[in-house]
Amino acid sequence: MNLVVVSNRVARGKANEPMTGGLAAALLPVVEKSGAIWVGSSGRVRDGAQKEPFAEIEALGAGALAMLDLPAAHYGGYYEGFANSALWPALHSRSDLIRTSQDDYFSYREVNAFMAKALLRFQKPETAFWIQDYHFLALGAELRDLGVKQPIGFFLHTPWPARTVIGGVPHHRELIEAMLAYDLIGFQTQDDCDHFVGYLSADLGLDVEDGVVTSRYGRSRLKVFPIGIDPQKFAEQAAKAVSHPDVSRLRRSLHGEKLAIGVDRLDYSKGLVNRLCAFDRMWTAQPALARTVSLLQIATPSRGAIEAYGNLQNELAKLVSDVNGRHGEVDWTPVRYLNKGFSQTVLAGLYRTAQVGVVTPLHDGMNLVAKEYVAAQNPADPGVLVLSKFAGAANELDTALLVNPHDIDGMARAIATAVSMPLAERRLRWEAMMVKLRAGTIQQWFADFVDALQASQPRKRASEPPMVEPPPILWPLRSANSNARYR
Ligand code: F6P
Repeated sequence: MNLVVVSNRVARGKANEPMTGGLAAALLPVVEKSGAIWVGSSGRVRDGAQKEPFAEIEALGAGALAMLDLPAAHYGGYYEGFANSALWPALHSRSDLIRTSQDDYFSYREVNAFMAKALLRFQKPETAFWIQDYHFLALGAELRDLGVKQPIGFFLHTPWPARTVIGGVPHHRELIEAMLAYDLIGFQTQDDCDHFVGYLSADLGLDVEDGVVTSRYGRSRLKVFPIGIDPQKFAEQAAKAVSHPDVSRLRRSLHGEKLAIGVDRLDYSKGLVNRLCAFDRMWTAQPALARTVSLLQIATPSRGAIEAYGNLQNELAKLVSDVNGRHGEVDWTPVRYLNKGFSQTVLAGLYRTAQVGVVTPLHDGMNLVAKEYVAAQNPADPGVLVLSKFAGAANELDTALLVNPHDIDGMARAIATAVSMPLAERRLRWEAMMVKLRAGTIQQWFADFVDALQASQPRKRASEPPMVEPPPILWPLRSANSNARYR
């Protein structure tokens, strides 16, 4: 099989460079080994007509990395607009933050169509396409429109919300119908899958039997594939990274004090405000814990052009300063707050240095930071994970201290419990989590999805698929008033 993996963001194989986003970091090692072609945005845009959409194609392990410049006229409406101001908030059950327009939707569909045309370059009879995430819900349907009959799979890295919540996204029906062009649709958790099935039956009147739904496109299988990490590799990286200069400097600065660590994109789904409030509450309720434990919060800026993200950045900056003002001493800073990204190597060392990992999103597809924190621990003296029960990872990491991220007092108590947990209990909890991590690695996730995709029945393939010649890419792909196609 010739596998083509597609995601908005791609990663290059440099362990010492900062990486934003779990998806790209998680996929890199497995895509590298698989020999797949990984296609994604170059992060740049281009104006005007272009025959060759690929800005760069380079070797990536046994395969290749192909990056496109996306159409300048549509990039903002696609990325900041529909993907991250309509889909992202709804997928994280924050429909109150949906801000979008008809033009955004038009741009989203244009970029999906643009990507579909570009992908034809990699189409061979034995090709299978694997599309990642909410940026490309309609890419499978665009590929089918271009005559592609080969297997196309889709994996959603975010949660899928209740039908009434996704119903808040303009054009939800059209998009979800388009998703049924995929042969295989993968979710992080059973809840996500059940919500999707709920929508199909209640809103589209479709029956799902044994995880299979039949639509005008043919059969689509719906299945849960919880994403994992490579725990062994991460543990080795963490053990080595303790001597990294950044990690050594951090250790020296602690003077024996305990450290809690949070590492997140600066995103409202991550529960950062509530987390800081919980630390504030803890130091107020238990002043003895001041100087005993401090918080290192790394919040990597992301999607800064979107108002909700700008507002959050301001709110967090103020909150950190309030908390530090309230509990700080001339020689003690309760919260170290950093707005920058770190390499996987440094992060692994930081996780190992911290006695408590705080991963308290309000809602999260999986949250690989939780898994990485666990894998990075010293088996002889492991730290404690405080984990939101609304992160997909909580299904597996159920011996973490599970918290409700809306319950500030409960979180404050859980963090204090984590700080003073005896070694025997820490080890028991950690060992149970490691068993889960070893059973569900990223390699297993990748292999399971690809096997299921290969096993998917040929879609309306009465005869061999016609090979479609890649048409030249010319912008605008459709004229601005051709958006009547989108209801
Ligand atoms: O699943 C969500 C996701 O794709 C993650 O992989 C990643 O954390 C994030 O979104 C990336 O966001 P962006 O590419 O917008 O920074």
